[in-house]
Amino acid sequence: MKEFDRIIGYSAEKKELEQIADCLRNSDVYKKLGVNAPGGLLLYGEPGVGKTLMSDCLIKASGRKAFVCRKNKPNGEFINEITKTFEQAKENAPSVVFLDDMDKFANEDERHRDAEEYVTVQSCIDEIKGKDVFVLATVNDIQRLPRSLTRAGRFDRRLEINAPRGADALEIISHYLDGKSLAENIDKQYIARLMEGDSCAKLETLINEAGVYASFDRADKITMEHFMRAYLRSTYGRDINDDDDDDDDYCNSKSEGKKMIDDTVWHEAGHATVSEVIYPGSVTLVSVTGVSSGKSGLTSYSNINSILPLDYSKFRAVGSLAGAAAIEQRVGVPGNGASRDFDQAFDMVRDMIEDDCICGFHLHGSPYRNSENLNSSIEKATAAKIEEYYRKAKEILSLNSEFFEKIARALAEKKLLTAPEIQAIRSECNIERRYMKEETYGSFIADRRRSDRRRNRILSPDR
Ligand SMILES: Nc1ncnc2c1ncn2[C@@H]1O[C@H](COP(=O)(O)OP(=O)(O)OP(=O)(O)O)[C@@H](O)[C@H]1O
Ligand SMILES: [Mg+2]
Repeated sequence: MKEFDRIIGYSAEKKELEQIADCLRNSDVYKKLGVNAPGGLLLYGEPGVGKTLMSDCLIKASGRKAFVCRKNKPNGEFINEITKTFEQAKENAPSVVFLDDMDKFANEDERHRDAEEYVTVQSCIDEIKGKDVFVLATVNDIQRLPRSLTRAGRFDRRLEINAPRGADALEIISHYLDGKSLAENIDKQYIARLMEGDSCAKLETLINEAGVYASFDRADKITMEHFMRAYLRSTYGRDINDDDDDDDDYCNSKSEGKKMIDDTVWHEAGHATVSEVIYPGSVTLVSVTGVSSGKSGLTSYSNINSILPLDYSKFRAVGSLAGAAAIEQRVGVPGNGASRDFDQAFDMVRDMIEDDCICGFHLHGSPYRNSENLNSSIEKATAAKIEEYYRKAKEILSLNSEFFEKIARALAEKKLLTAPEIQAIRSECNIERRYMKEETYGSFIADRRRSDRRRNRILSPDR
């Protein structure tokens, strides 16, 4: 149906919406078989993934008149508004009631699932039953709603809308780049990887922002550099660029500023080197842009679908510790500014010990086995694992010092390295993984084999 052309990608979701639109538009066909159209549809998912857009397309494709209700009035008046919307829809049946952002209807009382607004919606839905009024709603957080409201019979269908991934993300990026004047270095595949997990709204906005930077520069074309500037702006909440490095406001002296940049370069190069050695292609971006004006460095990772959760936690824990390990490698003592990395590594390792029992079942954590003794044993085991992983990070760095230094030098020069640039450096270096596989990463590989076996059993139940 052409009404759905505005939704780029999302073919499975579109198919489902088309089917519902057909039920609503051609209800006679369904009635001939004694079938009713689904009683209602609830679209749920993170902000900006296209729920309102999809609802709009569905309403247009249904050919029905829609009565829209959004929270735009104080509580008392809003209850009347809800009732009025349903009444109008009933008088104009066949029709659609569209409750956009329904989980915000009771936002002054968000923990209270029995808020008056939800009770009102529920009783209105019951009242229009059998009156040919289709109820369509969108929400971010389905848990905020009373279960009685979202049950089948009130909302017969629920559809989860996730952020676009893979081919869908690429299609949306291409759609928003279409018709713009682009430089040859615009790399759509890389943009899709960098923004994996981000909403459609964020993709749309960042591409537009890149165009705003290009226009402000009076450039003929939008370049990858404009896009990266827009990306960093959204990450840090303000525009940062290389000019900031001349700004010493944040530091007391030039030499202090230079040391901070140097340390951040080695720190980020440590994260990138260790992560790339363990899982090639895992790092999407390393940046030290804006460090002299007080911004932290940044290393970001793609979600590696093939890595199972336990493997991924180990990989991220070793990678997190690699920043401090890199500074120790350079100057003999672990650097400052790694406390967030340590917090992250401790959290991940503690989860692995409590949930995955990597140090034995006796340390399995559960609310029923909560004793001081157990807690202190878990803490000791966590600290020991962190030390082991920290040593692994250092070992990887010294085994791959050529790669580590090349990443650091390129980062110092360019301030920002993209995944293709990191891969180009990697391909020039001799990467030591063999030794790691046998010694350093023995347990990682063993775990993967175990998980592979588990996966095979699930895929081929007869074996
Ligand atoms: N599949 C898509 N293809 C192209 N653009 C999309 C797609 N989905 C969403 N967009 C664009 O992203 C922006 C946000 O979409 P929308 O308002 O529908 O999100 P939402 O899920 O309703 O967000 P919220 O939960 O915050 O209300 C809009 O500009 C929309 O056009
Ligand atoms: Mg919306």
